[in-house]
Amino acid sequence: MTTNRRNFIKSASALAALSLSEIDLMAATQQIKTEGKGVSPEDENYWNNVRQLFPLTKDWAYLNNGTMGPSPYPVIEATKKWMLDGDQFGNYGGWESTATKLAAFVGANEDEIALTHNVTDGINIACWGIPIKKGEEVILTTHEHVGNAFPWLCRERLDGIVVRAYTPGNTAEETLERIKALITNKTRAIATPHIPCTQGQIFPIKEICTLAREREIFSIIDGAHGPGMLSINLHDMGCDTYASCCHKWMLGPKGTGFLYVRKDFQETLQTYFVGGGSDNGKWNMASVPISTGDYAKSAHRYYGGTQALGLYKGVDAAIDFIETIGMTNIHNRIKHLGAYVQDGLLAIGDKIELITPTEDRSRCAVNGFRIKGVEYTKFYSLCAENKIRIRSVAENGLNSLRVSTHIYNNKAEIDKLLVLVKSVV
Ligand SMILES: Cc1ncc(COP(=O)(O)O)c(C=O)c1O
Repeated sequence: MTTNRRNFIKSASALAALSLSEIDLMAATQQIKTEGKGVSPEDENYWNNVRQLFPLTKDWAYLNNGTMGPSPYPVIEATKKWMLDGDQFGNYGGWESTATKLAAFVGANEDEIALTHNVTDGINIACWGIPIKKGEEVILTTHEHVGNAFPWLCRERLDGIVVRAYTPGNTAEETLERIKALITNKTRAIATPHIPCTQGQIFPIKEICTLAREREIFSIIDGAHGPGMLSINLHDMGCDTYASCCHKWMLGPKGTGFLYVRKDFQETLQTYFVGGGSDNGKWNMASVPISTGDYAKSAHRYYGGTQALGLYKGVDAAIDFIETIGMTNIHNRIKHLGAYVQDGLLAIGDKIELITPTEDRSRCAVNGFRIKGVEYTKFYSLCAENKIRIRSVAENGLNSLRVSTHIYNNKAEIDKLLVLVKSVV
């Protein structure tokens, strides 16, 4: 064991939680630097070093990244530092640079990124801003999170649009066919998740966006689970909008997110929630006649006002953290653990009803399942009693369970869950 590592572990356990000295943090971060090289998803020593950088308690097996991604120390420290900086010196602003960093991370231009506070903000901006009339249709899934379902359902109630839903297929091909079957001459938007929250299936999103473009339909994507789980290139994907957050797979501060709006789509997507930064500086209440000004010539038109600098600096640190390990290495490890969960569940036998596809391109970090003859709420409570945090999925009558794993997890935690499943079948 190196001196750096010994010092780091000593201080991590001594402080138990939130604060590491800068030196320890640098040493621990240094240890996980890959400098662009590949790391095996099965190199448990390496991934254990990564785990040391998270204050996440070891008393619980946290298998619920799909709800919230616990941040590592560098993110927490950057957030604290920049919050303190603002409060100490009275500096104001500085969050716009995070849009630039996010843009590079997801394959977009900086003028296509609006900062938001969560996925819900981004979905609402897109849902209420697209031109769509009474009687025209939008396609969603039967696997929606409330954050994607409810805005569209409210627009149905208020504006008379028609919401239609497909059930994901077992393969990417089947899913595409189901979407095609729902398209009519009234379809104006496909507002699908990239990855539904219920069972984590990876949809063939590029094909969906291409299909939408070919039929002159808007592609309004709920990207809650994309960035940080998969390498994302939004220009290549070809969507019109993509709403995401930094507090799930990116492991950033809670209450941070972004909305991508394709440059050419910004004149089509109306903005309603405007203020400081979403204008072009040309309005003037004292001129005669009053000058209205115009929207900012970028996605900044979709947000305005004061933001939490500390939180967005935490997002910068989250992207740095991901890049220290490498997005491909992270994806490979996540996918490896997801397959370990899936294979482990399937090996238990026919009492397990897996609801995530086994097709390689359709699966990654999240698995949904039911246990025949066992009420999902009962098993969820049993997990909590045994200090295993998973998610129960009551939405859309799915009545199932969801396990989601990230880079801080290990196989022992997954085994703990699998042993518990075996004990009830
Ligand atoms: C698929 C999906 N969409 C939307 C949301 C809403 O996200 P947020 O809480 O960041 O608004 C979630 C949250 O879990 C989700 O899983």
